Amino acid sequence: METVGIALLGVGTVGSAVVETVLRKGAEIGQREGITLEVRWGLARRVERVLAAGLPERAATTSIEPILEDPLVSVVVEAMGGEEPAATYMKRALEAGKHVVTANKEALSKHFAELVATARARNRALLFEASVGAGIPLMASLRQILTVNRIERIRGIVNGTTNFILTMMAEEGMAYHDALREAQRLGYAEPDPTADVEGYDAAYKLSILASLAAGTHIPPDRVDRRGITSVTPDQILDARARGGAVKLIAEAVARNGGWELRVQPVFVPGSDLLAHVRRNLNAIELTCDRVGSIVLYGPGAGPAPTAAALVADVLDAVRFGAALLPKLKGAS
Ligand code: HSE
Repeated sequence: METVGIALLGVGTVGSAVVETVLRKGAEIGQREGITLEVRWGLARRVERVLAAGLPERAATTSIEPILEDPLVSVVVEAMGGEEPAATYMKRALEAGKHVVTANKEALSKHFAELVATARARNRALLFEASVGAGIPLMASLRQILTVNRIERIRGIVNGTTNFILTMMAEEGMAYHDALREAQRLGYAEPDPTADVEGYDAAYKLSILASLAAGTHIPPDRVDRRGITSVTPDQILDARARGGAVKLIAEAVARNGGWELRVQPVFVPGSDLLAHVRRNLNAIELTCDRVGSIVLYGPGAGPAPTAAALVADVLDAVRFGAALLPKLKGAS
């Protein structure tokens, strides 16, 4: 049986769920795949977090150095969130010969070309299924779709927190702040809710999807972005009375040889599938030149689905290495 050493960068809500997933599913995965997963390190500012996640004290580190120097670590799982130091740590991990798996849409969307190029130069995996749509197999689907198709449009609900808030306001008449607090309690929201409610999180995710579709890095500052804080309870109730809903829609359209990207709250009529996507669920419609329109739907936020995608990526990293890297024009 092969043992795969994992180092976890960040032991917050998602990082702890990765440890829990390995504990719960490790034996089953081991039997089926012939691979034992071993979480060797947990990087966190406070040792207590590492211990609370169920890891031993010897696994706790506040520095990345022992992880980079440990020859038994083959996969670094980045679950810190935020641009830095996450982006630098991922680059250094790849340079040290580790595969990298991440849920971090901000660092990835801003440093996509550089990270993909580093992974390719070092012949290592860089996998990010968990970064968009949590447990929805979006990246796996995109890899399959893009083998033959060209994607002409991406349109969807990619932020669970705002979708949860809008649903609670529409269906339960909840006040904005109460709905946000509930989303935070359920582990959907980012540590700083601004990223969710102002549409940054959706813009990062749209940038990643559009970069894959375009085959070139389209950074998040190319997204015309507006969040949900300006949406009034009246607009939400009025939309409901008309049989539709206000939704935060992320859309990327290929037009005149380029891509237009926007994130904004819009009225979605009841005849549109997206109007019926509730709570923390996400749905992404891909319009393709050969297969037509495909909608991928499922839990887009929450510790368990995100951790499931991360652990699945760990196994893919070991099995396929650099073979799953996206092929970017100009960058790799
Ligand atoms: N804060 C994010 C969301 C988490 O609510 O969708 C999942 O990426």
